[in-house]
Amino acid sequence: MKVVHTIEELRDQLRGQLRVSFVPTMGNLHEGHLALMKLARQHGDPVVASIFVNRLQFGPNEDFDRYPRTLRDDIAKLERDRNVYVLFAPNESELYPEPQNYRVQPPQELGDILEGECRPGFFGGVSTVVLKLFSCVQPRVAVFGKKDYQQLMVIRNMCRQFQLPVEILAHETVRAEDGLALSSRNVYLQPTERTEAPQLFAQLRIMKDKVRAGEADAALLEREATNYLQARGWLVDYIAIRRRRDLHKPSHAEMLAGEPLVVLAAAKLGATRLIDNLEL
Ligand code: PAJ
Repeated sequence: MKVVHTIEELRDQLRGQLRVSFVPTMGNLHEGHLALMKLARQHGDPVVASIFVNRLQFGPNEDFDRYPRTLRDDIAKLERDRNVYVLFAPNESELYPEPQNYRVQPPQELGDILEGECRPGFFGGVSTVVLKLFSCVQPRVAVFGKKDYQQLMVIRNMCRQFQLPVEILAHETVRAEDGLALSSRNVYLQPTERTEAPQLFAQLRIMKDKVRAGEADAALLEREATNYLQARGWLVDYIAIRRRRDLHKPSHAEMLAGEPLVVLAAAKLGATRLIDNLEL
């Protein structure tokens, strides 16, 4: 695997390649990320991965400074897996040599709900860096995880509206045996919190079972799950049943008519904020 830190070196490595597949990450790689690289390998050649902790997508009180930066371990994992041909790991001055005044602004109705409501500017920051990374790497295919369901949707819509020649592939959420979605932020969990953490996904599964059994009162299901978690010490940002196609609230009629749905959730356990989702 070639590790490059500048756009010029990246371009040198990729000159003439028309089937590049790309997996952008912020590092501290886990099996979820590695599964994306494997899928990328099945849909293109060469595979490029990036590791860049993108300041633009962190709020002023978020964890940008303490976000785990583990480049040496990450390189070792990628070398072991042998799916990635080039790792692009720019530093900030390479990707942001001047203040990033031109930004991608996702539409409010998608970018400012759920995660976007809790984290103002988040999806603008994500979209902007992904557009920049795409223009550095020029991939034909890029792979994103369903773990970040709304992010996947924002990126898909950005590509469609800007007619970017990049096909977006989605990978299912990779989980620990107890159901907890793998995340770089799981390293923040204290041991007792790690034991409690699978309760979030457990509640999503219960919601799915109830919807399957015919429960059509979305607000009731959301309230039940929220109350359950809050009673166990969680701070729930949202647990929301939404239409898959636009993440808007389903009407009662749509709930009854089998509209494709997803439940999305974000909640804090101690100092750690976890997100998860499940298609119903
Ligand atoms: P990061 O959180 O490092 O995630 C990189 C990619 O891995 C994303 O597409 C994410 O959805 C996927 N991923 C993370 N955990 C996963 C899991 N358990 N199962 C499946 N896929 C998983 O998402 C970002 O970085 C950034 O916002 C980025 C897109 C790189 C822009 O900065």
